[in-house]
Amino acid sequence: SNDPLVIFTPSGKRGHFPVGTPVLTAARQLGVDLDSVCGGRGICSKCQITPSYGEFPKHGVTVAKDALSDWNSVEQRYDDKRGLKTGRRLGCQAQVQGDIVIDVPETSQVHKQVVRKRVEARDITLNPSTKLFYVEVEQPDMHEPSGDLERLVRALRTEWDLPELFADLDLLKTLQPILRKGEWKVTCAVHLEDRRIMQIWPGFYEGSIFGLAVDLGSTTIAGHLCDLATGEVVASSGIMNPQIRFGEDLMSRVSYSMMNPGGADEMTAAVRDGMNELFAQIAEEAGITQDLIMDAVFVCNPVMHHLFLGIDPFELGQAPFALATSEALNLRAAELGLALHPAARVYLLPCIAGHVGADAAAVALSEAPGKSEDLVLVVDVGTNAEILLGNREKVLACSSPTGPAFEGAQISSGQRAAPGAIERVEIDPMTKEPRFRVIGSDIWSDEDGFADAIADTGVTGICGSGIIEMVAEMRLAGLLDGPGLIGSSEQTGTTRCFLDGRTYSYMVWDDPERPITVTNRDIREIQMAKAALYSGARLLMDKFGVDSVDRVVLAGAFGAHISPKHAMVLGMIPDAPLDMVTSAGNAAGTGARIALLNTKARREIEQTVHNIHKIETAIEPRFQEHFVNASNIPNAVEPFPILNT
Ligand code: FES
Repeated sequence: SNDPLVIFTPSGKRGHFPVGTPVLTAARQLGVDLDSVCGGRGICSKCQITPSYGEFPKHGVTVAKDALSDWNSVEQRYDDKRGLKTGRRLGCQAQVQGDIVIDVPETSQVHKQVVRKRVEARDITLNPSTKLFYVEVEQPDMHEPSGDLERLVRALRTEWDLPELFADLDLLKTLQPILRKGEWKVTCAVHLEDRRIMQIWPGFYEGSIFGLAVDLGSTTIAGHLCDLATGEVVASSGIMNPQIRFGEDLMSRVSYSMMNPGGADEMTAAVRDGMNELFAQIAEEAGITQDLIMDAVFVCNPVMHHLFLGIDPFELGQAPFALATSEALNLRAAELGLALHPAARVYLLPCIAGHVGADAAAVALSEAPGKSEDLVLVVDVGTNAEILLGNREKVLACSSPTGPAFEGAQISSGQRAAPGAIERVEIDPMTKEPRFRVIGSDIWSDEDGFADAIADTGVTGICGSGIIEMVAEMRLAGLLDGPGLIGSSEQTGTTRCFLDGRTYSYMVWDDPERPITVTNRDIREIQMAKAALYSGARLLMDKFGVDSVDRVVLAGAFGAHISPKHAMVLGMIPDAPLDMVTSAGNAAGTGARIALLNTKARREIEQTVHNIHKIETAIEPRFQEHFVNASNIPNAVEPFPILNT
């Protein structure tokens, strides 16, 4: 062809186009991912590109200085108003004049990569449910009697290739004045999955639209507000789950609903109120109004799932633990009483089984064990541990009732992770003296300046990761035997071990006002929690037919803070090389964010969940057996060879 050659980077897509073709047109014809909200009218500036000049031996072209048309008045106007970065051009205005190499910067790509993970098979690209479209609508005409909505829908179809769209009454009520105010030029927010026009603005709307990813936990509710056009998290916030007053753990909430008529409804109202409080908080932090939030994704365990939806969780309290539905749900925010955009949609990830919820599905979406070459164990540590084991061949899942001990509950000096809480511990094996660090300070207790460092907070207690290190260090220092008994001062050689009722306790911090000790009951609680976690993992390994795993991923807000070495000393997780134990942070929250920002990921996880084999720990005799053995520290029968190296 004699027409100029146009090459796009980084995609490498290329083709010949007649002189005078706008770059945006060429990009569209080649399927290059170049954004546009205004449809090439020089208003939105989403289509920015960077032309490259000179020799490109790799591509076999030389790009002359005049390979693109000069700045036109539209670009000039845009530059005067807002400034176009050096070297940038508006793709809808610049026209092809000769062979050219054009780079599409990441900010101009619709499907940019938004969630990057360290240990992951792939990046997540942006593909949101709701997008903005600018259109010019035909004016009404006496000779062609059609409604304003019909002409708007037609404009969206012909200009943007959108399917037949619908509108709610709320939108219809605003439609006519807005069309006229904008002189028939409007910006629409369209929910593509729902095929609904969510909102319209006169002229070109400069603002953003938002989505919420919500991790609805039994203890805390955390929300992340994302800009749907960039994928960025613009605000995050969390609150305590107000259902706590009905019961600390899930089963006590289920029994509350069984004992009290109307109890389930009370808890539903409480969690929805809490949610709205959280949304208000997040919107304020981001400086937006709540009605700009058009889409929301929720992940939660099965009991929270039912209580949030207003379904009595009765059946989840007894075998065979049947869910009302395990499928993903697409609902309207309004029917759940959520104060978001009036037409906002809510997506709930599918549940895996009666005890393994949408939170575990979110972890599966984020950590993708089914895409892993090696055998990976993913443990989401919370009041209930969600455990996944798998590789490309298959994925197994179960949940295990660890209880709230890892969150510092039911531990005599236990507390939630907050400034003043002990989070890191070392015990000298010779002197049996402890040293520790508290949250909010990076000075160890035996270092100069510790008193100053904690002047504001004091030492208030021990948080979950702190108690794990504490117990493991006590075992390593010989203060504690395998079955979990703290020795006397004679046996251990330290007066820090003292008789406390019928068993011994270990004095960590002998502040007379607020002494911090570890009692033998505390040790028992941790033994139960870690034994539940380990036996769940071990049961999955039995079912998989393996004795070891290649790597372990610790997930959950709390999981991120656990030291792999101490978890292993405790026998909380199966033996694996220490450098193969990594932390994934809040994987359920990440999974929610992925599902919010990429609607294709929703289809993917719906498919994946169907292929996960669920194991019910409660009915497995092997679980009890593993549990008994795992009560020992690290374990009565399992070898932990890694600890001897
Ligand atoms: Fe909107 Fe070019 S497409 S400015």
